[in-house]
Amino acid sequence: MADTQYRLEMRGVVKTFPGVKALDHAQLRLKPGTVHALMGENGAGKSTLMKCMFGIYKMDEGEIFYEGKPVKIKDPLDALHKGIAMVHQELQPIPARSVGENIFLGRYPKKFGGLFVDHKKMYSDTEKLLKKVRMDFDPKQHVGTLSVSQMQSVEIAKAVSANCKVLILDEPTSSLTAKEVEALFRIIEDLKAEGVSIVYISHKMDEILRISDEVTIMRDGQYIGTWDAKELTTDMIITKMVGRELTNLFPPKINQPGEVVFKVEDFTSINPKSFRDINFELRAGEILCVGGLVGAQRTELMEGIFGIRSHSKGKIYYKGKELKIRRPKDAIDQGIAMLTEDRRATGIMGVLSIADNISIASLKKYRDFGFLINNRKIENLVQDNVKKMNIKAPSSKTLIQSLSGGNQQKVLIGRWLANNPDVLILDEPTRGIDVGAKYEIYCIISELAKEGKAIILISSEMSELIGMADRVMVMCDGRITGFIDGKDATQENIMELATQFA
Ligand SMILES: Nc1ncnc2c1ncn2[C@@H]1O[C@H](COP(=O)(O)OP(=O)(O)OP(=O)(O)O)[C@@H](O)[C@H]1O
Ligand SMILES: [Mg+2]
Repeated sequence: MADTQYRLEMRGVVKTFPGVKALDHAQLRLKPGTVHALMGENGAGKSTLMKCMFGIYKMDEGEIFYEGKPVKIKDPLDALHKGIAMVHQELQPIPARSVGENIFLGRYPKKFGGLFVDHKKMYSDTEKLLKKVRMDFDPKQHVGTLSVSQMQSVEIAKAVSANCKVLILDEPTSSLTAKEVEALFRIIEDLKAEGVSIVYISHKMDEILRISDEVTIMRDGQYIGTWDAKELTTDMIITKMVGRELTNLFPPKINQPGEVVFKVEDFTSINPKSFRDINFELRAGEILCVGGLVGAQRTELMEGIFGIRSHSKGKIYYKGKELKIRRPKDAIDQGIAMLTEDRRATGIMGVLSIADNISIASLKKYRDFGFLINNRKIENLVQDNVKKMNIKAPSSKTLIQSLSGGNQQKVLIGRWLANNPDVLILDEPTRGIDVGAKYEIYCIISELAKEGKAIILISSEMSELIGMADRVMVMCDGRITGFIDGKDATQENIMELATQFA
């Protein structure tokens, strides 16, 4: 019985993984020409439901109707042919291939009766697509040289190239700047006007309320309900998502920073376009938030300090002693930990278990007689972390690649806590994390500061900078443009410093 009001309908979807019922009779109904937000806590089953729609996973039970007719979706290529496209939460581009090749992978335009790839057409089509998604970079450029946000645009261009009628965007803005988000929203408006149904997954409430027409909320793999976005407020969404009311978004700021412990002096990158003349100090127990637009070189600076990138001059001191850091291991050995921004590239080790991922940076501490790894101690440590951060997983042996995006992030935070560092650098630690878990992570950060750890927190979320900072350091174009006391930080004064181009 086809209900043709809907472009696509999923009914009674059940999907079980070993030890987890990821979807328990989930459902979704998409109308043409609408933005449909899909919301739920980390691990609620949003990505899994979309992977069922896109043919990555086979449903155990359930049906999909496309324009009223029941359909089976065999695999992602089949989905694309049916007009369903997906931009993944964890980007999976092929770095050594060009932008054009990434977009047309598996469906290259052909010439001479299909024998050869028609490169000319591929690149001219790519150029048109990039224009359509309001981007200008070279279609022949290798994807590996693009920034995360540019890669995201390539993925969106790829989806658009399929002339899709359903477009799934799984946390598309988690690494975009405000300006890039606006550009994406314009693309979404364009597509919506063309009648495309868009599924939008995000943990950012303001975005949801701004662009969505309808909202479906999931909890523990189950369908909670679908509402007209106009009927909802942030509080209502949160309550329906977590099943209870949340009163605080940030822990109270009662921090008392102590002595200066960490000092960075005249720190300058070997790359003239990157960070330069960096001077700052950090106190024990201080949370120093680093603000700035994407491209301000905040991550690059921290990677420089941590030994991932080279510097041409400058010194780093901890408690008055100069630290020699040439590679990350040197930094870790001297009590510095860093949580990286892009968990896929530099953070998670997908084929290892949760336990391994948590303990890997601190194995030294869990050895008996210097070489025997004490598994029981590790298991305690891991259990402790799983509990503290409410990591949703069947067991500590679960491979980290099978966790939901937000839960992977929590495992990574656990890794650095396990190492008990003196200086903790966190680059966008709550990226992709739901509201409830965000608060948990803020409490952990604040707790660590209370224990006397010095914390550097890079964040692109204004509310996070303002909610967490004892002091805000703002960067623009590789330089520090100013410091603001946490009590006086506002969106306006941060933005002003963030846009002080030389
Ligand atoms: N390939 C897999 N193997 C095993 N378990 C999986 C797999 N994919 C997902 N899961 C589990 O299914 C549940 C739902 O995960 P899913 O990724 O759909 O959550 P999500 O709602 O997208 O969360 P997030 O907001 O963190 O991205 C989680 O418990 C997750 O660990
Ligand atoms: Mg997800």
